[in-house]
Amino acid sequence: MVPADKIRMTNMFKYMMIGLVGAAAVAAAQSDAPQPTSAELTHEQNISVPDTAAVPPRPEGSIYMGGFRAPAIECVRVAVIGLGERGLPQTEHFAAIPHCEVVGVCDLYDDVTKEAADFIQEKTGKRPAEYHGDPKAYLKMLEELKPDAVIINTPWETHAQMAIDAMEHGAHAFVEVPLALTLEDLWRVVDTSERTKRHCMMLENVNYGRDELMFLNMVRQGLIGELLHGEAAYIHELRMQMKSVDRGCGSWRTYHYAGRNGNLYPTHGLGPVAQYMNIARTDDTFDRIVSFGSPALGRAAYAKKNFPEDHKWNQMEFKCADMSTSIIKTKAGRTILVQWDETSPRPYDRKNLIQGTEGTLAGFPTRVAGERIGYSAIEKQQEEAGQPGGKEIADLGGYHRWYQGKEAVAELYRQYDHPLYKRLGEAAEKNGGHGGMDYIMLYRVIECLHKGEPLDQNVYEGALWSAVGPLSEKSVNEGGAPQVFPDFTRGDWKTTAPLPIVE
Ligand SMILES: NC(=O)c1ccc[n+]([C@@H]2O[C@H](COP(=O)([O-])OP(=O)(O)OC[C@H]3O[C@@H](n4cnc5c(N)ncnc54)[C@H](O)[C@@H]3O)[C@@H](O)[C@H]2O)c1
Repeated sequence: MVPADKIRMTNMFKYMMIGLVGAAAVAAAQSDAPQPTSAELTHEQNISVPDTAAVPPRPEGSIYMGGFRAPAIECVRVAVIGLGERGLPQTEHFAAIPHCEVVGVCDLYDDVTKEAADFIQEKTGKRPAEYHGDPKAYLKMLEELKPDAVIINTPWETHAQMAIDAMEHGAHAFVEVPLALTLEDLWRVVDTSERTKRHCMMLENVNYGRDELMFLNMVRQGLIGELLHGEAAYIHELRMQMKSVDRGCGSWRTYHYAGRNGNLYPTHGLGPVAQYMNIARTDDTFDRIVSFGSPALGRAAYAKKNFPEDHKWNQMEFKCADMSTSIIKTKAGRTILVQWDETSPRPYDRKNLIQGTEGTLAGFPTRVAGERIGYSAIEKQQEEAGQPGGKEIADLGGYHRWYQGKEAVAELYRQYDHPLYKRLGEAAEKNGGHGGMDYIMLYRVIECLHKGEPLDQNVYEGALWSAVGPLSEKSVNEGGAPQVFPDFTRGDWKTTAPLPIVE
């Protein structure tokens, strides 16, 4: 087994080099690129931030990948990179999903690689090839196995290059959140997907949660009218990850809290809200973002309380705000609040709020209010049945009160559950993974590849949602100044069909 320290140092050097080479390549590619004129930008003239919004022309031979259909694959040969907290349980899902076979597993460490291979062999009777011990072992796996799909569950700073390498080797790439950490790398991923004609999907599993699917279904039925505003968050106290000092999530993620300040993990809350709004799909897209951070105190306090004075966590300065708050303005003028806090002691929250001219749907706890839903709908039913409820019903308050609680949510599910959840919910509950969302997501990935259908999330959505990371960092650094989103679709979002309500 390779010592953890050696692996980490090799990794850090590699990623620094990748970042430098990637940034230089993109800068060179963009130097001749036409800059957008102010007429092409919808932000007010007093905002001068065209550098983040610069869009290089699409190279000849590359194609737009929104709505892309790859040739159908009878049995999808899957390779998995990264078998830590996220990757190892995934092997269970793949073992239960039809039309796929895990042909290779790869991690830095031999123990988890063997564990994954043992599990797959036990469940399917076929043992995948094992690769470990070297940060580049995954390249050998790509060369030797030539998989159809590669699943990337590794630290954030490795995502972009691994996705690019997977596509260059002919595979469709499926990447954990976020897709990449810089705008340059997001462009490299988009451009590689367009040139190689391989899917690259960021695996935003929350879009497959039962409530998120149901809200999408309700929004599409027009139950809350025209959309105005959304609220998204990832508020999850995870300081204990710092106890994984030499290996595991805390061993790499802690360096991000130390070195960066912004909304670094935005997509769990934002992905569903973006889908409700058809962002980058005909109706609307992100225009600009402002971001602020609270003081950065919690990580240092946690280190002081839980580690010796001379421990490395007590030697570093933590730059990242405990609570990051961003506001996105969309081209259609809507607003989205995005918050991220993995440090403060407070209950879990993804907000999951979407507000329209006729009502609002919200999460944590699940609740709805509006002119046609919740208590207003009950009042109407009573009236239609000739049983006006009198004071009792009037007291319920129509849309002035949230319709919530166990019975209310059960009734909402009965009326509005998404057809996809109706089809896969039972299997999802059995197979688990964040309440079943992981299973449904991976099921859909394989189903779409097997049938040759477009994926539910295209490369541009992954890039746009992930761009909140670097753009919020820039905004925070500039005292909250607005930053313009690049249009990774190069204008093609205007004709990209909204995600259908998949049956
Ligand atoms: N969508 C979700 O709900 C969810 C939940 C948890 C984590 N994640 C994401 O999943 C990713 C992994 O997180 P995690 O918690 O599993 O971290 P982890 O540290 O537990 O696992 C990462 C694994 O990647 C391996 N690895 C690192 N570099 C490698 C290389 N060059 N080649 C092969 N393997 C390599 C490590 O050895 C480790 O086993 C992150 O992007 C994280 O944000 C997503």
